[in-house]
Amino acid sequence: MKIGILTSGGDAPGMNNAVAAVVKAGIANGIDVYGIYNGYKGMVNGDIKKLTVNDIKGIVDKGGTILRTARLPEFKELEVRQKAVEQLKAHGIEAVIVVGGDGSYMGAKKLSEMGINCIGLPGTIDNDIACTDYTIGFDTCQNTILKAVEMIKDTAASHSRCMVIECMGNKCGDLTLFCGIGTDADYILTADHQIPFDEVVAGIKAKHDADPEGYAIVMISEKYFDVDGLTARIAKETGYDTRKSVLGHIQRGGSPTSFDRILASRMGVRAVELLLEGKGGRCVGIKNNVIVDYDIYEALAMQRVTDPDTARLADIL
Ligand code: ADP
Ligand code: F6P
Repeated sequence: MKIGILTSGGDAPGMNNAVAAVVKAGIANGIDVYGIYNGYKGMVNGDIKKLTVNDIKGIVDKGGTILRTARLPEFKELEVRQKAVEQLKAHGIEAVIVVGGDGSYMGAKKLSEMGINCIGLPGTIDNDIACTDYTIGFDTCQNTILKAVEMIKDTAASHSRCMVIECMGNKCGDLTLFCGIGTDADYILTADHQIPFDEVVAGIKAKHDADPEGYAIVMISEKYFDVDGLTARIAKETGYDTRKSVLGHIQRGGSPTSFDRILASRMGVRAVELLLEGKGGRCVGIKNNVIVDYDIYEALAMQRVTDPDTARLADIL
């Protein structure tokens, strides 16, 4: 049996661990594993190479993805996917493991319907996939954000400033919420944990009035709020010298944490097992520390909500 593996959408720490696990599980089961470089773009262009143990040496320690990644919106078109299927057939590849987010899952499902069994693994820092408690990369990203906020606090305290810190997550607030709790932010704003701007501004002003030499931290999700508007109001109405700080792409980099390494390894091995069972059009998740799998359409129809027990903490702490 020959299978392919690709990484797609935004890269995430731990993707390499998934690749390494798939290659090793493949070899253990007599399967040839092919790397499909640059996501679906490489699938269409035939950017495909057999992976050996040499290719995966040392990659478990590295962030990013050795297979590189890309976005190819045209993959939604049937003719483009037909080209991809032809390339796979030319290489004798019968099945593919796709590490990416929900967009990548759609590509995987559609390929499965065209006769190429595909399994999706949740590789994204965003933790925005409903059928899994955690995505590969989310834990590492949290640790990166924690370090960044600690450093921002040093400068905030030195200048007695309010820092409005924008986190990635693509509308999913988990990174902001978890890291806001972990860094004891004054306010945490996400789509699932909204606070009226008036309330935030009044609270920050009260803090300044009580201790003008102190500092304040607001953690806010990207792509959902008017971050500039909130920053301007805090600057104008609270007494704090105020800055917006967009953490940006540092959030996607770095060596994966132990949690992400193990998660990616477990999921990679499960994906190979599913293909050996002849299954396709499914995606792997972790629920209550058990590796599970779902039909991709079923998984994408699930509603993603922030764990309410964690969200509650943002109001208490
Ligand atoms: P993510 O996988 O992180 O959600 P994107 O939404 O950018 O990232 O999707 C990654 C890639 O998956 C897209 O560039 C495209 O190639 C493919 N894709 C996304 N949506 C679909 C779809 N509806 N049908 C087929 N392929 C898709
Ligand atoms: O999906 C991962 C992610 O990092 C999101 O958190 C963010 O909104 C987006 O990708 C950024 O994409 P790009 O790398 O294209 O700027």
